[in-house]
Amino acid sequence: MRTSRIVPTGTIREFGSEEIIVSKTDLKGIIRYTNEVFSRVSGYSREELIGSPHSLIRHPDMPGGVFRYLWQRIESGHEVFALVKNLCKDGAGYWVLAHVTPSFDRAGHIVGYHSNRRRPEHGWISAIEPLYARMRAIESGHQRPAVAAEASLEAIAPSRP
Ligand SMILES: Cc1cc2nc3c(=O)[nH]c(=O)nc-3n(C[C@H](O)[C@H](O)[C@H](O)COP(=O)(O)O)c2cc1C
Repeated sequence: MRTSRIVPTGTIREFGSEEIIVSKTDLKGIIRYTNEVFSRVSGYSREELIGSPHSLIRHPDMPGGVFRYLWQRIESGHEVFALVKNLCKDGAGYWVLAHVTPSFDRAGHIVGYHSNRRRPEHGWISAIEPLYARMRAIESGHQRPAVAAEASLEAIAPSRP
């Protein structure tokens, strides 16, 4: 589901090292809760965010394989950390270190997902960009998004847990 039609401007937006961007979603990744920092950095009001799929802020520079891995991890009950470039409403981008976890009910069933995002440390973005560029190049050779995402993930992490 690619809902965003916003054209990236190439600008990168920063946020404070003490700030945390928070969201909670249902089982399908529809946003059910956000904090104020999320709105300020992304440029979307809480009303615009809540009820939207998280792909609202998907940046086209992000390889689909990263999100495939994210969903494989959380749907199987695990946490995941990922460096993610997101797209603001005005076309700027912002990088986050996202920690995404499932939320469980008392019977141990997954009832939704939760993400806390911090500003990445200096140097992490330049370290990850060549890998993401390689993944995008692999994905560009495939028509179907799901096949493309699996191909890039397989190329960089063939024996992942
Ligand atoms: C709790 C949670 C947080 C997420 N955070 C982001 C995010 O910050 N940026 C993003 O592009 N996708 C995020 N996703 C993944 C999206 O649901 C989606 O898979 C991704 O944007 C790729 O879109 P697509 O799968 O429709 O291609 C998150 C998912 C969950 C469950």
